[in-house]
Amino acid sequence: MSTSWERLANEPILDIAPYEPGKPIEEVERELEIAGAIKLASNENPFPPPPGVLQAIRQVLGGLNRYPDGSGFYLRHALAKRHGVSPDAIVLGNGSNELLELVARTFVRHGEEVVFPHPSFVVYPSIVQSVGGIRVVVTLKEHRLDLGTMARAVTPLTKLVFIANPNNPTGTIVTADEVEKFLNDIPERVIVVFDEAYVDFAQGPDFPDSLAYLRQGRRVLILRTFSKIASLAGLRVGYAVADPDCVALLNRIRQPFNVNTVAQVAALAALEEEVHARQTVAMIQDGIRTLYRAFDELGIRYVPTRANFILVEMRDAARVYQQLLRQGVIVRPMASFGLERALRITVGTPEENAKLIQALRTVLGKKGGV
Ligand SMILES: Cc1ncc(COP(=O)(O)O)c(C=O)c1O
Repeated sequence: MSTSWERLANEPILDIAPYEPGKPIEEVERELEIAGAIKLASNENPFPPPPGVLQAIRQVLGGLNRYPDGSGFYLRHALAKRHGVSPDAIVLGNGSNELLELVARTFVRHGEEVVFPHPSFVVYPSIVQSVGGIRVVVTLKEHRLDLGTMARAVTPLTKLVFIANPNNPTGTIVTADEVEKFLNDIPERVIVVFDEAYVDFAQGPDFPDSLAYLRQGRRVLILRTFSKIASLAGLRVGYAVADPDCVALLNRIRQPFNVNTVAQVAALAALEEEVHARQTVAMIQDGIRTLYRAFDELGIRYVPTRANFILVEMRDAARVYQQLLRQGVIVRPMASFGLERALRITVGTPEENAKLIQALRTVLGKKGGV
C-alpha cells in the first residue's frame, strides 16, 4: 500500500531503490563495539590529499562567507589547458555523479531510451528512471561491457548510452578498438557518455582516447572526477568535457553554485600534484599484486582489474561480508548490483591490505602468512 506522500510523488521515482553507500567506519565501530576498522568499500583513494592541496584549502577558509565562483573560472581554464580544449568545453559538477544526472535531465525526453551496461554504476538506472526515460539494460559478457550487444540495442528511440570505462564493479575496460567499432556501428545522433572515474588507474595503449572522439566531432561527453586519483572524494568535484554547444545546454539547468569554493581550489591545486598521482597509481598496482597473490593462495576467484578495486566471487559472500565487518574490515556486498555472490574490495594502503588478508584468513579458516 502506498503512503499518502507516495501518492503525491512523481510516479517514475517510486520504482527507484535508494542508493546504498558503503558503510561508514564510525557506524561499524559503534554498532559492533570495535575500534580501528578500515573501509575498503567505496573505491576511494586510501591516501590523504597531499600537503599542497591542504594548504590551498586552508587559504580560502576565511572567505567562506562568500558564494563560490559560479563559473569555476580558474579550474575550468586549468582543465581546458590540460586537455587541449576550450574552457567552454568544460562544465564542473558536484562530483561526476551530478553531471550524470545533469546530462540525463538535459537530453532525455519522456519515453526515450538510454542504453547502459549491467552490472555497472548503480546510479545509471535511477537517473534514467527519474527523468521518465526507458532503461535498456545490456548484461556484461564475461565481466566486460558487451559493446556489440549494446550497439544492437540502439533503436530510433535511443537518446543516450552510458559507458563506464573502467566499469564499476568489475574493474574491466573496453578497448580503443572495441569503442571505435561501437561508435561506427551506432547512428551519429546518439549521445555517448564515457564515464571515466577510474581512468588514471587504467592507462595503457589499449585504453581509448575518448578526447580524440570529441575532437573528431563525435557526439560524446567525457566525465572525470577528483574523487579517486586526487584523493578528494569528500569534497565532491568532477567535470565533463564536451562540445561547447552541449556544455551551454547543461549550464542552463546546472545549479548556480554547484561546486563549492573549497572544492574548486583543492581541485586546482590537485592538478599540480603529479607526484601524488604517480605514487597513488604505483601503490595501487602494488596492492593489486599483493591481493591477487593472497586471493590465489586462499582460493578466492577474482576478476582482473584495471581500476582501484577488485570484484571477488564467493558462494557465501553475504556471510563473509558480515564476518569481515566483525574483523573491522568493511568491503562492499554486491547484492544491490545484482551480484549476490560477489564482494567488491577497494585496494587500500599496504597496512589496510594486510589487515584485509589477515581477516580473510580468519574468516575462511586458513592460517599462515602471505
Ligand atoms: C563508474 C563511476 N562513475 C561515477 C562515479 C561518481 O564519482 P563522483 O561523483 O565521486 O565523481 C563513481 C563513483 O564511485 C563511479 O564508480
